[in-house]
This record gives sequence, structure tokens and C-alpha cells, in this order.
Amino acid sequence: MKIKGLIFDLDGVLVSTEKNHFIAWKKTAERLGSDFTEMDNEQLKGISRVDSLKKIITLAGATVSTEYFEELLVFKNEIYLDSIRTLGPGDALAGVLELLQHAKAHDIKLGVGSSSKNANAILELLQIKDLFDAIIDGNGVSAPKPDPEVFLNAAQGMGLSAADCLVFEDAESGILAAKAGGFKVIATGNPHVAELADAYVDTLTDFNLSLYEKSL
Ligand code: BG6
Ligand code: MG
Repeated sequence: MKIKGLIFDLDGVLVSTEKNHFIAWKKTAERLGSDFTEMDNEQLKGISRVDSLKKIITLAGATVSTEYFEELLVFKNEIYLDSIRTLGPGDALAGVLELLQHAKAHDIKLGVGSSSKNANAILELLQIKDLFDAIIDGNGVSAPKPDPEVFLNAAQGMGLSAADCLVFEDAESGILAAKAGGFKVIATGNPHVAELADAYVDTLTDFNLSLYEKSL
């Protein structure tokens, strides 16, 4: 079967910004007097900024006013943005550029389906934004992952149906979102979620599209 479109999650798939999110959330949790571990962070991968803060507040057993909630969102995003300022073309994860180029050379459409409201800025820093036919980010959806909306909108933007596309994800919420939308999913970069997906590769260097198509 021929795949006509590839849709990529951003954080943890195209670029290793999950660590930056984690550090910024850890500092936010400290303001709530709470510790925040990498295991806790697993629950946040792929979900929106607002939903992430709600989870951190629950983990901390805290209650915050609407004003303080907004202040914490800004606090986290400022730390995060400051930490990614120096990202550049060399920071795309292993195998990303090769897979994007392979797709371009074979007339396969490219999309991004990310929960991040910073997705466009990061794609620009990586200098890969122009390669994509559709970019759907946290600003463009009403229901965040694990709802399939972000991936369905990306497929629609590429003029394709879910059955024509393959989604690349590193987070449980993202894999569930893609599955709910009827997409095949390749998990990457996070062995914890390997079993939820149709296939798993440590890095995109290990992914061979022609071989995968033969297996379908
Ligand atoms: C997802 C990340 O892609 O975007 C999450 O996996 C992050 O860790 C979420 O919280 C929202 O990102 P942003 O950049 O809008 O705060
Ligand atoms: Mg991700």
C-alpha cells in the first residue's frame, strides 16, 4: 500500500524539546511547592499547555486562582521560550531531514500535528517550515490530543484521508489521538509508548518507508 502523506508531531519527534518543556514545568511546579519528576512528565507529553498546568496543580494538591493560573502559564512559557532561543537547523532529530527529503522526492505530502502553540516558531528556527503542506498546532484546534482533531485537520489540509497517512508520535496522548482518527502510527523516541503504536523506531534513522509500505 502506498502512503501519500506523513504527519509529524513536533516535540520529541522532529526536535528534542521535551526536555525543555520538562525543565520549565519543574520550575513551575516548584512555585506550587511541589516536586515534579520525569515520570510525572510522561503524563504531560503531547497535551496542551493548559491541560498540562491543570495536571501539575492536581499533582501538587494545590488550588489556584484564575489570575495565578494565567501567571503560571506565562511563567512556564517564558522559561521554555528562553531555553529554545538558540535552536537551529542542526537541531532536528536524527533521521528527520532525510525522511522529509525522501518524502519530497517521492511526492509524499508532509504535515505537522502538534499541541504546541510555539510550533511555527520552532519550525522556523529549524528552517524546515516551508517543507510542510499543512501545519496544525495548538492554536488551530478546539479539542487537544488525545482528541484526533489535530491530525484530521492536518490530513484535510494535505487533501488526504486518514487511511492515506502515517503519523509519527512520541507521546501516549498523541498515539491515542492518531488511532482515534483512524491513522496508522509509528512511535519514536520513547520506548514507554512503543506497544500502543503500529511500529516503533528509536530514531527516524531506523524508519524505512518503502519497507513499511510493503508490510501493510
Ligand atoms: C506538546 C508537548 O507538543 O506541546 C508538551 O509534548 C507541551 O510537552 C505542549 O506542553 C504545549 O506546548 P506549548 O509550546 O504550546 O506550551
Ligand atoms: Mg511529542
